[in-house]
Amino acid sequence: MFFLVALWLLFGFLSFGPAAFIFCYMRRKSKDSWPTRVDSDYKPRVSFLVPTYNESSIILLRLINLSRLKYPRDLMEVIVVDSNSSDDTVEIVKEFSGRGPPFSMKVLVENDRRGKSHALNYGLDYCQGDVIIISDADCFWPSDILEKAMPFLADPSVGAISGPKILLNSEQTWVTRVEESYLKWANVLRLGESIAGSTVFFEGGFSAFKKEAFDRFDPYGTGSDDCGTVIGVIQNNFRTMLVPEAGFYSAFPESFRGKLSIKLRRTNQLVRVFAKYLDLLVEGKVKTTKITVVPNTFLYLFSPMALVILIALTAFLVLNFPLLLVLFAFLIIPSIRFYLYEVLESNFLLFASTFAVLLGKRFSIWSQPEDRTGLTREALQRVNLI
Ligand code: GDD
Ligand code: MN
Repeated sequence: MFFLVALWLLFGFLSFGPAAFIFCYMRRKSKDSWPTRVDSDYKPRVSFLVPTYNESSIILLRLINLSRLKYPRDLMEVIVVDSNSSDDTVEIVKEFSGRGPPFSMKVLVENDRRGKSHALNYGLDYCQGDVIIISDADCFWPSDILEKAMPFLADPSVGAISGPKILLNSEQTWVTRVEESYLKWANVLRLGESIAGSTVFFEGGFSAFKKEAFDRFDPYGTGSDDCGTVIGVIQNNFRTMLVPEAGFYSAFPESFRGKLSIKLRRTNQLVRVFAKYLDLLVEGKVKTTKITVVPNTFLYLFSPMALVILIALTAFLVLNFPLLLVLFAFLIIPSIRFYLYEVLESNFLLFASTFAVLLGKRFSIWSQPEDRTGLTREALQRVNLI
């Protein structure tokens, strides 16, 4: 019995202790002043890479959104890389390009579909910009995003920046509200990490990479075009930072099923990303970003296992000593229930993904998620995005 309780306490600590410590530390860091030089005159030549696969329902809205950007016309180019969509995405893009948009435009079509990162790498060879910005078809930018974000790349030590995702449908269902809360905390962490050194989390809705800071997207084939690319930038000893001013808009699936398909794919990618970091750490190839790489590798690869063992131990103890249920009285408080639910859900997904990765399962090529429904012309007009 004593041994069991000691074990229970140990796994309780391993499951929550490091996470709580890291969170508190990063939250404090997130309030510090910005650590690198920001120069509002810094206006690099930028290439937007827009990967598309069967996006005929929104690609036109996305291009209209891009054409509203406030940035010198001769410093922008848009490169759409389509992987042979079976709908009329390419025709729509070509038609738009023929109407004289306020930037130069190229439309590339791959012969077959080999995933988003493959498409981005194909497009990369055609980019003439000094900064390459990945931009999903279902993510929308405020027109001043470049004016606000580019100055954060002015410092030579900064290799890449990303922005926080803002949900247009956060109030739609319980699923979108949980995601909103997750994003809020995740962004505090990412900001803290950026100020402390670098963040390892980027978003495909707005990720801007200096050309000199990376060779190709997702060099290690993790399936993550954003976080996977960050690995290479960090290895080249550049900083990678979340810039709160670079917020972009998107939507999230309303249903749990839709959420699950996105999250399963994402956690599967992240497990691969952190397995790679673990490799590089062991080989001594991560030099400048240990302060965020080490704790995240622990949180993503090991905490979920500790938590699953903790749950098994708890179940065993409660079954044998039902009185222990009294200890769970704190679950009466709704906010605690809410956060506990989030923690359990994300850790279960990570745990499942680790197994999927160990079994060699990949989710790099995906079907279109259900998050397009909230992205109507009216919804976008309401927030002045088109
Ligand atoms: N060319 C090409 N080829 N484009 C593709 C392919 C492909 O095989 N698959 C997807 N895309 C395009 C989509 O058309 C869209 O513009 C963009 O890639 C992102 O696809 P989504 O289907 O919207 O991805 P998501 O919203 O589930 O995931 C996003 O966020 C993740 C992080 O949370 C993406 O940015 C992911 O890359 C990212 O990991
Ligand atoms: Mn998306």
